[in-house]
Amino acid sequence: MSFWKRVFGGGGEPGENKEQYGVDYVGVSEVLTFNRNLLAALNHEKEGIDLYSRFLDEANDERGREMYRKLIDEEKHHIRMVLDEIEEHKKRGYWS
Ligand SMILES: [Fe+2]
Repeated sequence: MSFWKRVFGGGGEPGENKEQYGVDYVGVSEVLTFNRNLLAALNHEKEGIDLYSRFLDEANDERGREMYRKLIDEEKHHIRMVLDEIEEHKKRGYWS
């Protein structure tokens, strides 16, 4: 079921509170906000990788370089988490 059909056509989650016209405005707002935040989070993590990659290039001691490599790996893990959540939203029809 598509996101919009789910929202306007009814059927349970997200948010069970349908107001007049049967539209779940609270549910729509929550999903859109969550999706927007997921994209912002994805950008944030990518910016982190850019930043740490620059610092890695600039670092002139191995100890510092190792730290930036670990931070880059962490950010890659975070990107994976966000992408998995986006994928889950798509599967549920909550992505638009
Ligand atoms: Fe991160």
